[in-house]
Amino acid sequence: MPDTARIGILTVSDRASRGEYEDRGGPAIRATLDEYLVSPWEEVYRVIEDSQALIEATLAAMIDEQHCDLVVTTGGTGPAARDVTPEATEAVCEKLMPGFGELMRAVSLNSVPTAILSRQTAGIRGSALIVNLPGKPGAIRECLDAVFPAIPYCLDLIGAAFLEHDPEVIAVFRPKPK
Ligand code: MTE
Repeated sequence: MPDTARIGILTVSDRASRGEYEDRGGPAIRATLDEYLVSPWEEVYRVIEDSQALIEATLAAMIDEQHCDLVVTTGGTGPAARDVTPEATEAVCEKLMPGFGELMRAVSLNSVPTAILSRQTAGIRGSALIVNLPGKPGAIRECLDAVFPAIPYCLDLIGAAFLEHDPEVIAVFRPKPK
């Protein structure tokens, strides 16, 4: 049995963090990962306001102190003044993985023309992957279904935990060893 993976779920929303509404994004990420994964994992869950310094500090703590292998964020990717999740992600990563955002925007464009308003990205910090998702709860499944097939192999390549998936739920691609 593989080691228990640690997955950060970070909701970035002024209103959810103030309790003005219940966070629906975080639970949607948890439910989707629960369906995909058959290997053991535990979550590190936070709901925070749209402050770049706080997002950076939270991402860094989730990875450096709480040893997350993967952190999935939701919210703060749009064009409004308070939307700074991609900037915070880029600031804490050593490497950017622009293909994640490109694919999610392309797939989302099939359902909403405003998909191009999301600046969502991804990147590597140490041996962890950070992936941004838009804030709309409906976007979560759509975006994760698009990019998750490449996530387990990405984690293999950076030395993070081994994720085992349910092939009846999601098709994951791991190239055969050379
Ligand atoms: N992507 C999907 N799949 N579904 C959506 O409804 N909404 C868009 C876009 N991407 C959307 C989407 C809209 S309206 C915005 S403003 C941006 O994501 C950014 O959202 P965020 O600031 O809440 O992250």
